[in-house]
Amino acid sequence: MTFHVLTLFPEIFSSPLKGSILGKAQERGLVEVRVINIRDYAEGRHRVADDYPYGGGKGMIMKPEPIVRAIRALLEGDPKTWVVLMTPQGVPFDQRVARRLAAFGHIALVCGRYEGVDERVRSFVNEELSIGDYVLSGGEFAALVVIDAVSRLVPGVLGDAEAPEEDSFSGGLLEYPQYTRPPEFEGKRVPEVLLSGDHGRIRQWRRRQALLRTWQRRPDLLEEAALEEDERRYLEGLRGEGDGL
Ligand code: ADE
Repeated sequence: MTFHVLTLFPEIFSSPLKGSILGKAQERGLVEVRVINIRDYAEGRHRVADDYPYGGGKGMIMKPEPIVRAIRALLEGDPKTWVVLMTPQGVPFDQRVARRLAAFGHIALVCGRYEGVDERVRSFVNEELSIGDYVLSGGEFAALVVIDAVSRLVPGVLGDAEAPEEDSFSGGLLEYPQYTRPPEFEGKRVPEVLLSGDHGRIRQWRRRQALLRTWQRRPDLLEEAALEEDERRYLEGLRGEGDGL
C-alpha cells in the first residue's frame, strides 16, 4: 500500500510516521508513504502556491494549478491512484471507509491549508474525507489519521496477536474492557470471569460488555451492528432496566 501525501508542509510527516506499528510496516515494505511538496509544482521564482480569495475575505486560498499538476504527475506514474481531498466538508471518515480504502494499492491524500483550496480542485479528486466536525489548521493531521487507520488493515501490518477484527468498530461495537496484571489495583479487582480460564464464558462476557458499553456510550452504533437474537434480547433487557430508573 502506497500513500502519496500532497502538502505544503512536508516536515509535519517526518516523525509521526517513524514510530511503532507504522514505522515497522514501512521497514517491512508493507506500507510506503511518499510526501510530495505541492510547492515543487508551483511556478515562478517564488513558487507561490496560494493567493487572495476572489470577492474578498480573510485568509489565503490554495491555487489550483500546483495541486492539479502534482495530482497529474502521480496519475501518470499510476493511473489507478485513488485521490482523496482532506477537508472538513468531506464524507465522515470511519472504520468502514478505512476498510474500503485498504483495498487500494495507491492512495493520494491532498492536504488543504489556509482558508481552503480553490473550488476547481474538487473535480480532480475521487472523494473528499473529513475526520470529524472540527476545523484543523490543515489536512495534514487528518491525512495522518487516515494513513494510520488504513495501514493497520493492510494484511501483515498487525501481528496475529493484534488482529484488527477484535478492535472497536470492527463488529460495529465499541471494544470490551481490557485488564492486565496486577489482579487488584487500589482496591479495584479484575472481573473474576477473566481469571477463570473458561474461554466460553470469557467470550460471552466480552461480547456482553461490548454491547453494554456501546449502548451506554454510542447507542447510534447499535442500529447498524450485526447482532444475534440473544444479544438483541440482552439489549432489550438493558433498555427495560433503564426505563425503570
Ligand atoms: N482539514 C481541516 N479540518 C479537517 C477535518 N476535520 N477533516 C479533514 N480535513 C481537514
